[in-house]
Amino acid sequence: MKKFLDLGMQPLANSYVTLSNLQKKEKKFRLEICFDTKNYLVSIINRVPKEKMFNKDYPYKSSESNTMKKSFKELSDKIKKKYNPKHILEIGSNDGPFLKNFKKNQIIGIEPCGNLANITKKLGYITISKYWNTDLAKKLTKKKKFQLIYSANTLSHIKNIFDIFKAIEISLSDDGVLILEDPSLLECVKNLAYDQFYCEHLYVFSAIALQECLRKHDLEIFNIEHTKTHGGSNRYYIKKRTNTHLKINKNVLKNFKQEKKYGLNKFITYKNFAQKVNASRLKLKKIFRNIKAKNERIIGYGATAKSCTVLNYCNLGKNEIEFFYDTTSFKINKYLPGTKIKIKKYKPLDVNEAKYVFLGAWNFKSEIFKKEKIFIKNGGKFITHIPSPKII
Ligand code: TYD
Repeated sequence: MKKFLDLGMQPLANSYVTLSNLQKKEKKFRLEICFDTKNYLVSIINRVPKEKMFNKDYPYKSSESNTMKKSFKELSDKIKKKYNPKHILEIGSNDGPFLKNFKKNQIIGIEPCGNLANITKKLGYITISKYWNTDLAKKLTKKKKFQLIYSANTLSHIKNIFDIFKAIEISLSDDGVLILEDPSLLECVKNLAYDQFYCEHLYVFSAIALQECLRKHDLEIFNIEHTKTHGGSNRYYIKKRTNTHLKINKNVLKNFKQEKKYGLNKFITYKNFAQKVNASRLKLKKIFRNIKAKNERIIGYGATAKSCTVLNYCNLGKNEIEFFYDTTSFKINKYLPGTKIKIKKYKPLDVNEAKYVFLGAWNFKSEIFKKEKIFIKNGGKFITHIPSPKII
């Protein structure tokens, strides 16, 4: 394993600070990223215990975004049409935007965050509030195995990736399909999206790294789709190696070739990425400095975990960004970890309030730009750092 990037001391990205804890010292850890030359995995070096991150206070709800809801609905329709599975498992069911597209007796959700599991339990969906592992897989599949297992933006959060695949191997039927969806490392590197790295994102996967991980199990990728969610993700269709009925799509090899052509199998690519990330930081700081020199107000939009990485790495804080607007009820009236910038309940942007807005939720750029048409028409500007720092 070789280190290539140091994003400095960072707080836990989703640990939003309450008013009463504002003076308390936050726990911080050094966010360093490394590359494994053997299996091409890119991961963070210092791991925070999962119980500190995924618990009853977890703030992120996938259902609060129309983009995510639409994406889950479209995939569910496709799954019904293509595979018609009778028995489905979702690992990391969050507040249920995927589950809700299926019948209650057809699907089981695994969701360790109690607050989220309670939401789908109340709706009548079987939801197991535990961490996914081999013990749970054995218990769940004593009688029958799952014909379809789905997991989005969850596997990258789990430390022992090999145990996770073992558990999946145990619980997937021989003719079953596993669908995984996670931010794409190729997109992350191309877009200089270094904020994909924070305490929860232990890995950002490439297709070649995932294939290497699966090699140790009876599993292989047979199709890859690209989606726009979370700043560019890959949706991997995986089957048991012994299942020869499902043919391997040509695009799998094409994706591997593309990633290798871009150098995702070589350390030098990551060294270059790190250099560009440093330049991006300096440029973003300069943009903020120039706007502040004109005495203009700047606010933030979307108090994301990703913003936490950017602001703490670039040393941007309350002096630069007065407050953030966010739609997530749990975050409102709390403060961003590290920088302690206040989060306010979303209201439509108004140039009379602030002309400049830092786009924390850059991955929802089109949804946000549509929503803030009037602000843009009136001369409002967004500051973004993706793919390179600029004012738009
Ligand atoms: P997300 O993209 O999941 O980022 P991360 O995983 O880095 O936390 O979170 C998006 C955040 O942006 C979430 O808190 C809701 C907020 N948001 C808005 O405030 N307004 C919007 O229109 C959208 C789309 C998101």
